[in-house]
Amino acid sequence: MPVPAAGSVLAPNYHPLDVVLTTGDGSWVTDVHGTRYLDCLAGYSALNFGHRHPALVAAAKAQLDALTLTSRAFDHDLLEPFARAVTELTGTEMLLPMNTGAEAVETAVKAARKWGYDVKGVAPGQATIVVAEGAFHGRTTTIVSMSTDPETRDGFGPYTPGFRVVPYGDAEAVAAAIDETTVAVLIEPVQGESGVIIPPTGYLPRLRELCDDADVLLVLDEIQSGLGRTGTTLAQDLAAVRADLTALGKALGGGILPVSAVVGRRDVLGVLTPGTHGSTFGGNPLACAVGLAVVDLLRPGDLQARARELGGLLTDRVDALVAEGLLAGARTVGLWAGLDVEPALGLNGRRTCELLAARGVLAKDTHGSTIRLAPALTISEPDLALALDTLTDVLREAAR
Ligand SMILES: Cc1ncc(COP(=O)(O)O)c(C=O)c1O
Repeated sequence: MPVPAAGSVLAPNYHPLDVVLTTGDGSWVTDVHGTRYLDCLAGYSALNFGHRHPALVAAAKAQLDALTLTSRAFDHDLLEPFARAVTELTGTEMLLPMNTGAEAVETAVKAARKWGYDVKGVAPGQATIVVAEGAFHGRTTTIVSMSTDPETRDGFGPYTPGFRVVPYGDAEAVAAAIDETTVAVLIEPVQGESGVIIPPTGYLPRLRELCDDADVLLVLDEIQSGLGRTGTTLAQDLAAVRADLTALGKALGGGILPVSAVVGRRDVLGVLTPGTHGSTFGGNPLACAVGLAVVDLLRPGDLQARARELGGLLTDRVDALVAEGLLAGARTVGLWAGLDVEPALGLNGRRTCELLAARGVLAKDTHGSTIRLAPALTISEPDLALALDTLTDVLREAAR
């Protein structure tokens, strides 16, 4: 259990690496001592466009001089354009804006339950949602109720009922868990926090089929996987599947402010009528200005193509580390990798990240011996190569 720094008045619910950052520019950040680091976590994909992308900063600055908040009591001139831009980008029909990722997931859960009662005809109070082992959807009390991670869940009961947990990647387990009370299957198309776990080919199309057959909503949490990370606009694009509801967050705010949303079917989001759901800050003018600029960056598809291209380099390099016996396993999709450090090296994920930081590369461990690489999609090829060279050096040194 990490001990808070002596004299700190910060609640100890995080155990960050020992760096204190002051500035960021693209893929690089600088600490209070003037040391520069290559950021290979990119705010868990909230910084898909790097730190302070000029177009995003310009959009935010311009909006600061115009209007920042109305609440939803009054509309503003960017709300409808933002909703239109995101729905067009994602091939969906309607958008409900929120702020954090957890709020977007809560929104999807509420919409699915209400659709279940109002449209599907599930008996009052009986709705169930099928979720996956190892999932991470956020930190609210309802969301930790569907978690199987003891650290995330334990100590926060009583838990919200109505969730059925099945193994991730096993479509037939989902089929077995669906009955007449089931309103939704809620899944990450790639499990991020679990260590970039990629389901078997055919998993999402099969879930789509099962949901269609049983009149159940397919709800995909793309808060971490979405908006270019996987080399496509959404991870679900890789499987040519369209969810009924998709939760977006993180990169939607361009690394500037929290912006999240649920996009999806008009007849599903349409069940949330005035008074049934809301947020003071959701869809605020500043959020919409930045969100519109984010869509402008993604619309041409160049960044997605770049993630695919650099992802090829990433895959080749980490596969070579597996072949060399330095990694016990590696999973990559787009510009996103989960790397399992070979236990024989005597390094856990945390120690690996500390050694990387000492050499100027910031990454984050997850679940013991796994580290996650998710650099900005704008990272240069030499910088990506530098990060992988540094990782190789750290692992080779431990192997000696
Ligand atoms: C897949 C997924 N869903 C939801 C969340 C929660 O987002 P937030 O921390 O903005 O509430 C996260 C955050 O890591 C996530 O990765």
